[in-house]
Amino acid sequence: MDLKDLFLNYQKHESQNVTFLGRVRSHRQGKAVSFLVLNDGTSLNDVQVVYKSEVEGFDKIKDARVSSIVEVYGEVIVTPRKPQPFEIQAKKLVLLDQAVEEYPLQKKEHSPEFLREIAHLRARTKTFQSIFRLRSSLAYAIHKFFQEQNYVYVNAPIITGNDAEGAGEAFVVTTREDGNYEEDFFGKKASLSVSGQLHGESYAQAFNKIYTFGPTFRAEDSNTSRHAAEFWMIEPEIAFIDLQKNLEIIESMVKFVINYVMENNLDELKFCEKNLEFGLIEKLTKVRDAKFQVCTYEEVINTLKIAVDEGHVFENNDIKFGTDLGSEHEKYICEVVYKGPTFIINYPKDIKAFYMKQNDDNKTVAASDLIVPGIGELVGGSQREDDFEKLIRRCKDMGVNIEELDWYNNLRKYGYYKSAGFGLGFERLVMYITGASNIRDVISFPRTPNNLLF
Ligand code: 4AD
Ligand code: MG
Repeated sequence: MDLKDLFLNYQKHESQNVTFLGRVRSHRQGKAVSFLVLNDGTSLNDVQVVYKSEVEGFDKIKDARVSSIVEVYGEVIVTPRKPQPFEIQAKKLVLLDQAVEEYPLQKKEHSPEFLREIAHLRARTKTFQSIFRLRSSLAYAIHKFFQEQNYVYVNAPIITGNDAEGAGEAFVVTTREDGNYEEDFFGKKASLSVSGQLHGESYAQAFNKIYTFGPTFRAEDSNTSRHAAEFWMIEPEIAFIDLQKNLEIIESMVKFVINYVMENNLDELKFCEKNLEFGLIEKLTKVRDAKFQVCTYEEVINTLKIAVDEGHVFENNDIKFGTDLGSEHEKYICEVVYKGPTFIINYPKDIKAFYMKQNDDNKTVAASDLIVPGIGELVGGSQREDDFEKLIRRCKDMGVNIEELDWYNNLRKYGYYKSAGFGLGFERLVMYITGASNIRDVISFPRTPNNLLF
């Protein structure tokens, strides 16, 4: 049986015999009795198995090392005074496989850096069990949120012929060594997708509400704790809505997934709170229950200027309309000023992508980033430019390849009202909800500059 079920129903099994398989976490031999602590991966909790020298299989089991696999047959003894609610009095133990002595994950504290070098084993630790079970639940909760509201799940292509964000951060896909893309597999330059948005937008025109949830690739050389070269992004796109409605959807999505894990993964959250972020559950409760702040980019600039005047020192202290906010600025706004999730809207058009709707002021676009304490940017979104002429002009001004994006721009000609959407960085969400401080610890096998292990 799964240990998860045993932990849920141990009282029902009191004084009964049960069978299960598990991996040895620790093994302690005493004079009269010995203790095997086992885990089968289905539960964060370990089960303690007590055995004496009379137990069937004693000769082999007495030498079981950490990480060996054991089959247990024994009686459930409810133990009200101990930290664990029950233990197993073994009747028969089978050493199914003996691990080597040099197993790298012996029972002691390991640094996150060391654990990244053994990313194929680290998921066996309780910290990573908590993070990755939460990650799995969060993915499910995302799907649940959108599916329950009649969104269609779309898989955008991974190989594309355009760099959607126009930031030139795409990885090239080629079968050639010589860079002659005309002779290449697709007869032109191809790259890995930096965003599924543009393809998603065309599907929103067919289904009204869609979302993508897929791998995303960016060759940005920013070696930070929040950037990965391969990450997962959720990109909803909704026809006929404006920026204000976009904010509402983002806010209710974030609250929904927090609520979901608080109801379904409290053990994991408690473990994360103890080991990764003090006060995590209180933070999440507040976020779930509070209204998110909204402020304009211009207000942010004014606030930052005042901070600088009052002596606050940013690495980039040159703050004026047009400054691309760095994570130090974003953090100051949501951590010091608003102390919670904050939407920043209406950014200068020159620091945002070509497809964002231009506001009437002629200098800003209808963008909506959500920034959160500890992380910075969690969501980036916008209302899309719906005016064909304006869009083409913007493409030209920004040097975007119009031929390549013909299909996308032309959507505006075939009956197009409003459209808005956003991109949620899934790893950033997992960081925010688990309290993990490095993106390398919330994705199974991280890919970052100069790092392609496994
Ligand atoms: O702000 P970004 O670049 O927005 C887009 O890609 C739009 N196409 C979204 C849309 O409107 N459909 O990226 C969206 C989010 C960021 O807010 C961040 O959370 C995450 O993706 N992100 C990254 N996460 C990890 N590593 C990276 N290198 C990331 N780059 C962006
Ligand atoms: Mg962004």
